[in-house]
Amino acid sequence: MPAKGYPQDVKERLDQDADAVIARYPVKRSALLPLLHLVQSEEGFVSGDGIKYCADKLDLTTAEVSGVATFYSMYKRRQVGDYHVGVCTNTLCAVLGGDEIFATLKEHLGVENDQRTEVSAGVPEAQGKSLTLEHIECNAACDFAPVMTVNWELFDNMTPEKAKQLVDDLLAGREVVASRGPAVCSFRETERILAGFEDRREDAVHGGTIAPESIVGLRVAQARGESA
Ligand code: FES
Repeated sequence: MPAKGYPQDVKERLDQDADAVIARYPVKRSALLPLLHLVQSEEGFVSGDGIKYCADKLDLTTAEVSGVATFYSMYKRRQVGDYHVGVCTNTLCAVLGGDEIFATLKEHLGVENDQRTEVSAGVPEAQGKSLTLEHIECNAACDFAPVMTVNWELFDNMTPEKAKQLVDDLLAGREVVASRGPAVCSFRETERILAGFEDRREDAVHGGTIAPESIVGLRVAQARGESA
């Protein structure tokens, strides 16, 4: 059944942000990726209504928008919980513990890949929060393997015990701070930031320095007097 589109009040609210996004580009169809993040910030996923909204705003067909929304894995076609929790199970992370972490979290939370927890998720102190668990591909953070992400913020050198504590903290509403980034906000708030709106979190840029682990090779080369 074709999507009817958002109710008028939602549309009017989104229009203000969408127009600001579109104004950044010389050709409006170029605004599709941030606009998909914007509709994802509204509903927690890219719905049929969200696809229709993007198509109408950008003079595209819904098929063209769907083609993009289904190509990129950051756009979700099912409702994501308050947090998106990723476990890297690409080769290096997998052998260093990523597979074990993923199996542990599936059992701990009672969900399979790409599933959202029930609101309590078996965590007694859960504060009405939910999360979606997904195994993800390499995040270019292999020097901190095994890594996890929460709303795409990285958590380094994880273990099954640290992973359980992380999801318990999220579900209990306790503040969680990324290894090289700021305190984690909700999935919907993250999506608005990814649409290009200001990240007002304190310390949102403290990850701007290079981690020593990432330049070990460079330091060794420098000590040997080698150059490219
Ligand atoms: S394999 Fe996990 S970050 Fe590269």
